[in-house]
Amino acid sequence: MDIARRSFHYLDQRYRLREPLEYQLNKRIPSHLNWTNCFGGMTFVMFGIQLLTGVLLAFYYRPTMDEAYPSVLRIMQEIPFGGFVRGLHAWTANAMIAMAILHMLKVFSIGAFRPPREFTWVSGVLLFFVTVTFGFSGYLLPMNQLAYWATTVGTQIAGALPFVGGYAQIFLLGGSQITGETLTRFFALHVLVLPGVILVLLAAHFTMIRRQGISDPL
Ligand code: HEM
Repeated sequence: MDIARRSFHYLDQRYRLREPLEYQLNKRIPSHLNWTNCFGGMTFVMFGIQLLTGVLLAFYYRPTMDEAYPSVLRIMQEIPFGGFVRGLHAWTANAMIAMAILHMLKVFSIGAFRPPREFTWVSGVLLFFVTVTFGFSGYLLPMNQLAYWATTVGTQIAGALPFVGGYAQIFLLGGSQITGETLTRFFALHVLVLPGVILVLLAAHFTMIRRQGISDPL
């Protein structure tokens, strides 16, 4: 403990950390808040779990047609705690979507989308879209029968969009059917593009919330 205190003192002398830290830690919470206000924070905790378990899975997963499924089998059967980490990643993905829906219903029910919080709501809608796309892109990665057919159905739904459907389907698949191209695209989306996008959106969401505070009761 002493070493922690001394390290903090060392950094505090140089960067004056105490004041902003105390401001954050001692911020008073409005008395009208209740446990339903935790849904947003819980969604964020789940995102943290996904980040951690996702990195662990990426140490062993291989994004090619021949190796994807065997690498997942290896994670399940040979890597210590591999089955646990994969199960946690899959279950938390579902739980994160459920929690985001609860959070959305909560903020909708108290009318928190009204001025001046319109952009918090808009960033939330985008966050929800990104969260669902995380789930969709992750579902193909094990490359088993379930993954293959679920992605076939999902990309056909995208293909039914008016005007842009055909392009969207070809863009997602990297061709006219599921191949190694599709797997590479979904992998890039899942581990590169979406994490970057969600971090930017979360930063915007949280900055707006901290600037405006939590909304008052109706
Ligand atoms: C990854 C997904 C999301 C995370 C991690 C997240 C996180 C949070 C957190 C921590 C708060 C502050 C505490 C609270 O009021 O719950 C919050 C507030 C808010 N969120 Fe989200 N959120 C997410 C998605 C969404 C979605 C899908 C919507 C709506 C479409 C949304 C709209 C809002 C609004 C309007 C507020 C302000 C609430 C108020 O001032 O009373 N968020 N969010």
